Amino acid sequence: MSDSKIVKLLDESSNRSSELPLISGTLGPACIDIGTLYKDTGHFTYDPGYGSTASTKSAITYIDGDQGVLLYRGYPIEQLAEKSNFLEVSYLLLNGELPNKTQFEGFEHEITHHTMMHEAQKNFFQGFHHDAHPMAMLAAAVASLSAFYHDDLDVENPADRKMAAIRLIAKMPTIAAACFRYSIGWPVRYPRNNLEYVTRFLHMMFEVPSEPLTLNPVAAKALDLLFILHADHEQNASTSTVRLVGSTGANPYASIAAGITALWGPAHGGANEAVLKQLEEIGTPDNVEKAVLRAKDKNDSFRLMGFGHRVYKNFDPRAKIIREMCHKVLAELGVNDPLLEVAMKLEEAALKDDYFVERKLYPNVDFYSGIIYKALGIPTEMFTVMFAIARTSGWIAHWIEQHETPGSRIGRPRQIYTGADVRDYTPTAKR
Ligand code: SDX
Repeated sequence: MSDSKIVKLLDESSNRSSELPLISGTLGPACIDIGTLYKDTGHFTYDPGYGSTASTKSAITYIDGDQGVLLYRGYPIEQLAEKSNFLEVSYLLLNGELPNKTQFEGFEHEITHHTMMHEAQKNFFQGFHHDAHPMAMLAAAVASLSAFYHDDLDVENPADRKMAAIRLIAKMPTIAAACFRYSIGWPVRYPRNNLEYVTRFLHMMFEVPSEPLTLNPVAAKALDLLFILHADHEQNASTSTVRLVGSTGANPYASIAAGITALWGPAHGGANEAVLKQLEEIGTPDNVEKAVLRAKDKNDSFRLMGFGHRVYKNFDPRAKIIREMCHKVLAELGVNDPLLEVAMKLEEAALKDDYFVERKLYPNVDFYSGIIYKALGIPTEMFTVMFAIARTSGWIAHWIEQHETPGSRIGRPRQIYTGADVRDYTPTAKR
């Protein structure tokens, strides 16, 4: 990283100045290191949505929002989507390099042999009402892992950090399937070690004791690809949450549980569930124009869910891949979902409309994914749980990277105070 250039800042109101280093990474915009700004000038910076703020250095994922580029450890998402699989991508995110055959087999063996929940954790689900949202159950169950695995939680110990990563990636599908099974009153299914990662998950989701499950291999391939596309995405809201919680020294299970709750919001990972509900509400292509008008109306809080992105001001490369997948997967599964036509019409109408064009609002990763999840038989309320399973690999890779970075400090932003000036306490009789 070249740190040669300086940005000179002069505050004319106080005649105080600051010389701030310009830091560049491998790719992307240079950053002004403002670490000494407050000391030099007595000023903070103000960027409430962090739209112009880099919170950390990271070697994991790179996004160019203008060009619609997404790289995991330098590999273009399009190549990984075509040639890799989710477990190999998880290894890549964690270790920085693609595994050779021995490394992959070793990683897969470790994951396969850590897929079971502690038996006592099954009782946990009994405490939920049957209609609890699966994301509520998932967040609680993952946070509780620190109550079952408190023997190796030394966040400073690389072996403990690695074990936590293995356990989280391995157990997330088991816990997620248990959330679904509990919500429909089916018995929890144990993971089968003779199956590969995604097929094992689909069996835990849909296999019933009364008859063998016949799975279309298209389903596992489609879900594996969706997991690759959702595995990581730089410093998004949930990953930044994981890093902030992790910066306090909190254990990995608590940090990932915080990421799950951040992902749940409809402005973030919860959008995939919101998109399906919105498409169902729109119902037919004839209602698309009305929906676009509502999305443009400043007096209406209605937004096109699955549209827009803080970083992508071009097509989200993941959305392009998922849109192509939709046609292929639905055709191979023999599913005809009228909502796909509604989604296509909505995209076509929005991309021709000045409001969306001027604001560079394109479909994002959440716009088409729900149509595929639905075709796989996954219920709408489980869509964000799918996102969480995949993003666990990215979250824990960032959590480990942060702990491996020398000099990492607790995250503690400042503020602009807009409250009352100092004043004296007044007795009740005088209020
Ligand atoms: C994910 O950060 C990541 O990387 C996230 C993610 C990941 O992999 O981790 O990519 C996953 O979270 C994708 C985003 C899923 N969310 C949605 O689809 C919800 C709908 N989209 C929006 O709410 C919005 O676009 C956000 C939250 C995604 C981005 O919000 P920003 O960057 O704060 O943008 P903004 O709200 O300031 O909007 C800019 C303008 C505004 O209009 P003006 O005030 O300029 O007139 O665009 C408008 C907004 O009103 N706008 C929309 C819109 N999104 C933005 N108008 C209608 N419909 C929309 N969807």
